[in-house]
Amino acid sequence: MGASGTVSGPDLSVQIGSLTLKNPVMVASGIFGYGDEFRGLADYGELGALVLKTVTREPRPGNPPASRTVETPAGMVNAIGLENVGVEALVEEKLPLALSYGTAVIASIAGDTPEDFAACAEILDDTPVSAIEINISCPNVRKGGMAFGVDAWASAQVVRAVRPATRKPLIAKLTPNVTDICAIARACAAAGADAVSLVNTFSAMVVDVETRRPVLAANTGGLSGPAIRPAAVLRTFQVARAVSAPVIGMGGIWNASDALEFIIAGASAVAVGTVLFADPAAGNRVLAGIREYLVRHRLDSLQELVGSITLRDGD
Ligand SMILES: Cc1cc2nc3c(=O)[nH]c(=O)nc-3n(C[C@H](O)[C@H](O)[C@H](O)COP(=O)(O)O)c2cc1C
Repeated sequence: MGASGTVSGPDLSVQIGSLTLKNPVMVASGIFGYGDEFRGLADYGELGALVLKTVTREPRPGNPPASRTVETPAGMVNAIGLENVGVEALVEEKLPLALSYGTAVIASIAGDTPEDFAACAEILDDTPVSAIEINISCPNVRKGGMAFGVDAWASAQVVRAVRPATRKPLIAKLTPNVTDICAIARACAAAGADAVSLVNTFSAMVVDVETRRPVLAANTGGLSGPAIRPAAVLRTFQVARAVSAPVIGMGGIWNASDALEFIIAGASAVAVGTVLFADPAAGNRVLAGIREYLVRHRLDSLQELVGSITLRDGD
């Protein structure tokens, strides 16, 4: 029985600002484009939200198509470089299809200046997207991107520029490539972010020893997948204690148990990313497993589990 006394099962809903998600499992940005690339491979409408590929004010070609990704032990390194159709084409050509899945669609935006971010948000304000994720954490672009996310003041400046441009809930996507991720999270929340999401990829490099050159055309990239999971769980734990805004945790989630680690550490919601390349239905699997866990532990709502970790006292 759920909290409402019905037989519908535990209450899985999540509140992000004014937005209520039906459950906590999201698709992370950049994994299935604008919803078109994985069409028909799983029931994505069942998930809590779909975060679309980051878009910028103008379309971008991204890094050279050759050597943009490389597989590594328990993960991958990518340097796509924010290839995207631009915010206007997103709204006109891509959004209808993404919305047809029948669940919340979250747009992700980036730019070279805070004003670029604000211009994207203003265009998205008139659309049915449920929220806007501010990507201040892309490691694979020369200008903008992570340059904002590694500095608390610059991160806040972006959020502050976007806030008046839209009524949509705002999510700040944080990079783990910083000394103190809590300081960045606090600055974003104070500037008006309704939630923070973390982590984006960890800066990384893979070297071809025969040619003695980097494998990726961009030389460096971002590491994702199970290799980063324990590091991502720690940052989720730290940020959840640092801000009262909800935290969306991600980084190498492969199954429900992985997702539950993030939730128990403090995440209100989770996102699946790299795993979708191996199993397009992973999000559905994770969602079913979370539901099963709540039932097995006789919990009426997901909320009871969020941040419920009990620390050991150094035994
Ligand atoms: C191929 C690829 C492209 C990505 N593109 C974006 C992007 O456009 N915007 C963004 O915020 N994050 C992007 N990410 C980062 C993911 O959303 C996620 O934060 C990261 O991969 C960690 O989660 P995971 O280990 O489950 O993949 C991308 C990741 C991958 C692997």
